[in-house]
Amino acid sequence: MSSPSSSRTMRAVQYDKYGGGAEGLKHVEVPVPSPKKGELLVRVEAASINPLDWRFQKGVGRPFLPSKFPFTPVCELAGEVVELGARVSGFRPGDKIIAVNFPGSGGLAEYAVVSASNAALRLPEVSAVQGACIPIAAATALMALRTAGVGLDAGDGPAKNVLVTAASGGVGTFAVQLASLAGHHHVTATCGARNLDLVRGLGADEVLDYGTSEGTALRGPSGRKHDAVVHCAEGFPWSAFKPVLADKGGVVVDLTPRIASVAVAVLHWLCFSKKRLVPLIESPKKQDMDALMGLVVQGKIRAVVDSRYPLSRAHEGWAKSMSGHATGKIIVDMVEEAE
Ligand SMILES: NC(=O)c1ccc[n+]([C@@H]2O[C@H](COP(=O)([O-])OP(=O)(O)OC[C@H]3O[C@@H](n4cnc5c(N)ncnc54)[C@H](OP(=O)(O)O)[C@@H]3O)[C@@H](O)[C@H]2O)c1
Repeated sequence: MSSPSSSRTMRAVQYDKYGGGAEGLKHVEVPVPSPKKGELLVRVEAASINPLDWRFQKGVGRPFLPSKFPFTPVCELAGEVVELGARVSGFRPGDKIIAVNFPGSGGLAEYAVVSASNAALRLPEVSAVQGACIPIAAATALMALRTAGVGLDAGDGPAKNVLVTAASGGVGTFAVQLASLAGHHHVTATCGARNLDLVRGLGADEVLDYGTSEGTALRGPSGRKHDAVVHCAEGFPWSAFKPVLADKGGVVVDLTPRIASVAVAVLHWLCFSKKRLVPLIESPKKQDMDALMGLVVQGKIRAVVDSRYPLSRAHEGWAKSMSGHATGKIIVDMVEEAE
């Protein structure tokens, strides 16, 4: 029997130049890729669109990323292993996995190759949709809390006042749940008026509407100052955070670092500042993916899913992500379409 990658073609969604947004995406039939050394060929069940995917298309990594056109976007996915490249251990055909494929991407297709080192076996109780939200969104939330010194267990460091901005987004919904897990931290969150109840339901103690003066001031009625900030929103200068950080010191983990914020962060680092901005770019860790899947299985966290699209309507999910108004994660769901 021939392997899936030997001669077959597959449906994929690609773009062939920078820019163009959802209209720049093309539905194409292309060869199934072949796994190279250390890679897995995966039949994609669900892929999750992240803002980084369309920022690549906009040219944020120009001229290095994407490395070539046409390019099949989307890095975060869940699927089934169908073929192993050379020197892969720990996986077998038929294994269900979750993976992040950065910067190679390839998730908007029926098959994708991923590095085995960036994949984790999916627990049977974790659905493809839930699994596809873990490698970037949930793992980034976990890493941001860790970087800010926020322990997930009551015995894991002191209780902190934690602020999560854009708490209704893909990362923020996980950050609020993780920070609220043990119940000892006080979690303040910002989101739009329509999501106040959702975010409160995820465990936030105080929820601020970003359209109000409290929301823009990043400080709730309790008046608490923050020890740790998971900053998922955009457009806040350092001066917005400084007055709302704890006097003894506080850390703002910036998930969308720009040149100006990196310069501020370097200054803080050089000056040993008590109040610090820390830029963070997630690098996936298998043990984090495993731990997060465990929390999903225990019912302690869940992916909030904004919307699901079959591959034939992936451009609609792309446009929704680009709007900046998703509530939770946007899924492109290959299996649903095949059923
Ligand atoms: N550094 C890394 O490794 C890494 C990894 C993943 C993501 N990120 C970055 O982290 C950021 C968040 O990602 P995401 O996937 O969570 O984004 P997302 O899902 O697209 O976020 C959308 C949500 O943000 C809310 N929002 C927008 N502006 C807001 C504001 N000023 N205050 C409060 N809420 C606001 C929106 O609410 P409304 O609809 O009500 O406006 C919407 O619910 C993105 O910039 C992404 O690129 C970085």
